[in-house]
Amino acid sequence: MSQALMDAPAQAVVTAAEFWDQDPEYQDLLLNLINIHVVSELYGGDIFEASILRAPTAEFKMRMARTVMEEYGHHLRYRKLMEELGLDWQEYARSKGHLSTFDTPMESWADQAVFLAILDRAAAHQFRHFVQCRYEPFRQAAQDTLKEEYGHVGLGMDAVKALLQTDQGRAQVEHALHKWLPVGLQSFGADASKKNERYRHFGIKQDTNENMRAIYWEQVRAFVTEDWGFALPEDYTQIWNPQGQQDTDRAY
Ligand SMILES: [Fe+2]
Ligand SMILES: [Fe+2]
Repeated sequence: MSQALMDAPAQAVVTAAEFWDQDPEYQDLLLNLINIHVVSELYGGDIFEASILRAPTAEFKMRMARTVMEEYGHHLRYRKLMEELGLDWQEYARSKGHLSTFDTPMESWADQAVFLAILDRAAAHQFRHFVQCRYEPFRQAAQDTLKEEYGHVGLGMDAVKALLQTDQGRAQVEHALHKWLPVGLQSFGADASKKNERYRHFGIKQDTNENMRAIYWEQVRAFVTEDWGFALPEDYTQIWNPQGQQDTDRAY
């Protein structure tokens, strides 16, 4: 660990001007997270775009359009963090990929609705940690993004509620749920993750992947079983098994 970081009081803020004085490992971990968002928010915007026309009403189309706009805004927000450090975001991004969350295709309005309710919620669980990190530009970006992600989750919840009004919509939601739940669980990264241990060491995250996943599951399971009326096992490993999940640059 660099002298600068060791001497700093626990909550001292790191500015962009001080970034390159930090421990190289700290720089690398933060850049990895910033890059994940530079790449994935742009990719997410592109994937979500088709859902504007798929939305069933003008109100939902408008809210979906705003969501797409905000995803592109997130891309630009994290890109600015790269640029203010003098980095070429495209060059950096070429060595990595988008989040594996986006490997599953988005095929219908029900897919989009459940994705927002389940996956944007998983993203919000990550941002709740990032808002406490010491690197001021990233903390501020996470704060601004978190507010908008809550809005996306709200749109997803409203869209699902509307779909649940008909038998056909209900069947579509159930199908989408089985498709996205494993993706949501997987998005927290590997159990006993070395990378997570380093994130916690530097105060970028405050909890283990397995604890974050357990808290997420408890929340999702509560509204899916109580409000949506679909049965789910108490134990998420019956839906998705963390065995075999490895640390990668494409996951948290
Ligand atoms: Fe986003
Ligand atoms: Fe979002």
